[in-house]
Amino acid sequence: MGWGTLTGKLVTFEGPDGAGKTSALNAIVADLQPRLGDRLVVTREPGGNHISEAIRAIILDRKNTMMDDRTEALLYAAARRQHIVQEILPALQNDQLVLCDRYIDSSIAYQGAGRGIGEQAVYDMNQFATKGLTPDLTLYFDVDAAVGLQRIQTHRQNEINRLDVEALSFHHKVQAAYLRLLADHPARIKRVDASQPLERVVQQALQIMTAQLPAYLGTEGKSK
Ligand SMILES: Nc1ncnc2c1ncn2[C@@H]1O[C@H](COP(=O)(O)OP(=O)(O)OP(=O)(O)O)[C@@H](O)[C@H]1O
Ligand SMILES: [Mg+2]
Repeated sequence: MGWGTLTGKLVTFEGPDGAGKTSALNAIVADLQPRLGDRLVVTREPGGNHISEAIRAIILDRKNTMMDDRTEALLYAAARRQHIVQEILPALQNDQLVLCDRYIDSSIAYQGAGRGIGEQAVYDMNQFATKGLTPDLTLYFDVDAAVGLQRIQTHRQNEINRLDVEALSFHHKVQAAYLRLLADHPARIKRVDASQPLERVVQQALQIMTAQLPAYLGTEGKSK
């Protein structure tokens, strides 16, 4: 709806903080890059463009603790919109496979459920931003919220941002919303057991991608 014919595919990586999305994405890219070359595009919200990065910096600034919940949701949607227009859309029009670290489901889970704005309200508001651009496949990295936070605390002491320091109850609400999305969209969202060692997580994610995206990752010519 709304974007014309898009021959590429959009795959999003979702899950609670510290689930291992970025770690898995990096390993998946290392695996796929030799096969796909320029057909593979890797991005993350807010994207590499100046406008989205500037918006993101406002959201994550620890000085902005007074930020209103809906302001935050609108800023995420604004950054998403610019990322789509400048980076995701051109790739999808160009027949590329786009792997994106976080997308609309993050807003539904974090702002809709975590902040309590309401999942439907955040979904509706994001339709304005995305004009209905929905991922072809979403990998949900499923790990208990406490485990994800523990991973971050153990490994990334100096990188903890304003959102990471929210109370555990916030992260449990986020996780519950993700599980509702998983149940409500079984064709689009596939579960990866992210409690496993990273190597297994990557293996499972690649299996799902290969099954769901045969035109890009079909067994023909696949490395062992
Ligand atoms: N399967 C795993 N088992 C144990 N530790 C892991 C696993 N995957 C990732 N980690 C470690 O957990 C930490 C968080 O991983 P990563 O940054 O990939 O998570 P993320 O889902 O991208 O988090 P965020 O939502 O904050 O971006 C890292 O230090 C990483 O090395
Ligand atoms: Mg990450």
